[in-house]
Amino acid sequence: MNSMTILDAGTVAAGSLLTVAGLSVEEVAAILTATDRLERMAAAERVKILAGRRIALLFYESSTRTRTSFELAAKSLGAMTTLVSDKSSSIEKGESLKDTGLTLRALGAECIVLRHANSGAPYLLAKMTGLPVLNAGDGMHEHPSQALLDLRTMLARLPGMSGRLVNAKTLDGVTVVITGDILHSRVARSNAMLLPRLGARVVLCGPKELLPEDALGLGAGVEIERDFDKALKQAASQGAAVAMMLRIQRERLAGLELDLGDYISRYQLDQERLTAKAPEALVMHPGPMIRGLEIAGEVADGPNSAIEDQVRHGLGVRTALLARALGAGGFESVTI
Ligand code: CP
Repeated sequence: MNSMTILDAGTVAAGSLLTVAGLSVEEVAAILTATDRLERMAAAERVKILAGRRIALLFYESSTRTRTSFELAAKSLGAMTTLVSDKSSSIEKGESLKDTGLTLRALGAECIVLRHANSGAPYLLAKMTGLPVLNAGDGMHEHPSQALLDLRTMLARLPGMSGRLVNAKTLDGVTVVITGDILHSRVARSNAMLLPRLGARVVLCGPKELLPEDALGLGAGVEIERDFDKALKQAASQGAAVAMMLRIQRERLAGLELDLGDYISRYQLDQERLTAKAPEALVMHPGPMIRGLEIAGEVADGPNSAIEDQVRHGLGVRTALLARALGAGGFESVTI
């Protein structure tokens, strides 16, 4: 199959979420409003929303948070789920993404949640199956549900944010310092695309090896600062500061050697650095984190940390995304 055949295969179903770029600010607001509504709903009511509907979780890369929260979210809406992972399916025998997707569709899947090592794979799957596809992380490209749960965490934890309407000024005065392996991070990319559209300033921080000058194709509201101490101090002096730490993705380094001792001294968020530079900063990490490398355990477990909140908000946001994907639970106008 050549690429033209793939691109001509069909349109992307409404309700898909492939990139945060595809969401208007109004749609982001609608997803977060639905998240609130679904969370407050009695479990006995919520379970009727997708009762009997079939959702496939197709994971070509390992995951704890994303996979589990999508599965629990689907079940809380009454849907049936099936997990297909590359390790224990016919993918191991060489079956293509297209044939795997068509097989799931033939078995009655109405929506596919896909994590894949290749950037753009969710887009191809959506085109080839015609089903709504939720991108659960594609290569170094995007992790849109992570950016939405990160946004919800900020709105819940930053002072004065609770109950604020989501619009282009919601995060005015907020600086989000994203530090670590920016080059390989789909989380950084999705957040750098989403947060400035809501008024935040995003500062990317890390050594050249992990943060080339042209990283992410910097858009408006996104800057680079290599000095982590300076970035934290500036963020704290200009309003609300968020320190979002990222894991070094050893699995994607491909021969790139880093002096870890030097990295830790310059970029690890430990208590001394946090207290000295941004004592009120909200500390975030998408996980999985490597304690003692990009973040000290005492900071991860400390009062500034929102890391477990992020996981909890992931469940809520993904519940809304699944309802939206299947045109239910307040998203009936999203036609599939
Ligand atoms: N943040 C995140 O995507 O975590 P998992 O890899 O555990 O899903």
